[in-house]
Amino acid sequence: MAEAVRLLSFARQGLYRLHSQRCYASCIDKKRPNAVKVKPMCVVTKRTRSGVEFDEELVGKYGSDRGHVPVMLKEVLEVLGSDPGRPLRSFVDCTVGAAGHSSAIIQAHPELQLYIGLDVDPVAHEQAQRCIGLLLNKDSSGKISDLRVYNLLKNFRDIKSALIGVDEQLSINGVDGILMDLGMSSMQVNNPTRGFSLGSDGPLDMRMDPQAALKAEDILNSWPEAEVGRILRDYGEENNWRLLQTRIAEARFSGGLYTTRDLVNLVQRSSPKRAGHIPKWRQGWIKTATRVFQALRIAVNDELNTLKDSLYDCFDCLSPGGRLAVISFHSLEDRIVKQTFLDLIAVDNELGNGERVSLLSQHDNGCIQAWVKQKVHGRNGIILTKRPITPTNEEVQMNRRSRSAKLRVIQKVGNN
Ligand SMILES: C[S@@+](CC[C@H](N)C(=O)[O-])C[C@H]1O[C@@H](n2cnc3c(N)ncnc32)[C@H](O)[C@@H]1O
Repeated sequence: MAEAVRLLSFARQGLYRLHSQRCYASCIDKKRPNAVKVKPMCVVTKRTRSGVEFDEELVGKYGSDRGHVPVMLKEVLEVLGSDPGRPLRSFVDCTVGAAGHSSAIIQAHPELQLYIGLDVDPVAHEQAQRCIGLLLNKDSSGKISDLRVYNLLKNFRDIKSALIGVDEQLSINGVDGILMDLGMSSMQVNNPTRGFSLGSDGPLDMRMDPQAALKAEDILNSWPEAEVGRILRDYGEENNWRLLQTRIAEARFSGGLYTTRDLVNLVQRSSPKRAGHIPKWRQGWIKTATRVFQALRIAVNDELNTLKDSLYDCFDCLSPGGRLAVISFHSLEDRIVKQTFLDLIAVDNELGNGERVSLLSQHDNGCIQAWVKQKVHGRNGIILTKRPITPTNEEVQMNRRSRSAKLRVIQKVGNN
């Protein structure tokens, strides 16, 4: 019903755009005979718009004054906590950031006995320690005072050694829940000295871990020209990569590129001029620059390889029945999560498709988990989100950063 209302208002506003992933029957609008009025016939979306009600108060409580607003917070709470048959006794936040998700999870789960937060960024690490420390101090109910808390300045690629460092038994028993909220925090983007933002001038750094050796300026000024092009093509999915590669190589003859402003100016000069007045947000070079920055950030932090390897390790670290939830922010990340999840659960090809994919909301341990729409079953586990969950329209309006977020969840096979 809600979807029908949304589509109707969509059509009324004159937005008669066909969504490529939906099947529509068309009919003629009498007032606008040339327009194709959309009418859903069968909906085959490749994502599931979150069905939870957006809770601005909850997001405000765990986000606003920390400098970062946690994305899909209510959805994350639901996917990690909606199974009453399996209490969340141990939880690892691989990307603790400003501890928005972590704080909410700790407060929502008085049964939690072990919390481990990882972040590779010392600024985030300190902030998370402070936030979680405050949370524990404020706990007058005594509900969470027994919680063992470990905030570690570590890359999530080292999750296995991190867990063994905390408690050797964890490598055998595993943990009940793991969260990865990928990408950058607002604290990182808003700090010009980190070099992540094309909106303000700063050094071309882009390291999540300031101890790491490689900076964006190293790639731009000294990597083989063809490698620079490959990064722009593969990690930025930028069509104009050849020209940009040449311009970046040419810039080396006049001293090189050292600031975000240098790079933005180069992109602007290399982008075709468009006739007429174009609003700033529609100018092509901004999109190109965004893609170039994304490409460099991925390369500097080796993000895609780290993600892929870490997904396997995180799955290994789950207890039987434990869940791993991953929020990604661009298609390259999401593709890796989707494909790796399929590989991890080991889909049994001998089962028919009907047995591998179950369509209806599931009745698990006596509880309807409404967010589970379609599952994929495998020998090692279940993908609980055949299609990723995306934020509500209200959340996207409140927090633009959430607009590209996709949440996928996998559950390790249980003991029973
Ligand atoms: C989107 S923010 C997380 C925000 C957090 N969920 C919250 O609610 O405040 C992503 C965080 O992950 C960290 N990060 C990125 N890659 C990492 C990695 N490979 N290992 C550990 N932390 C990483 C970043 O430093 C950043 O602080």
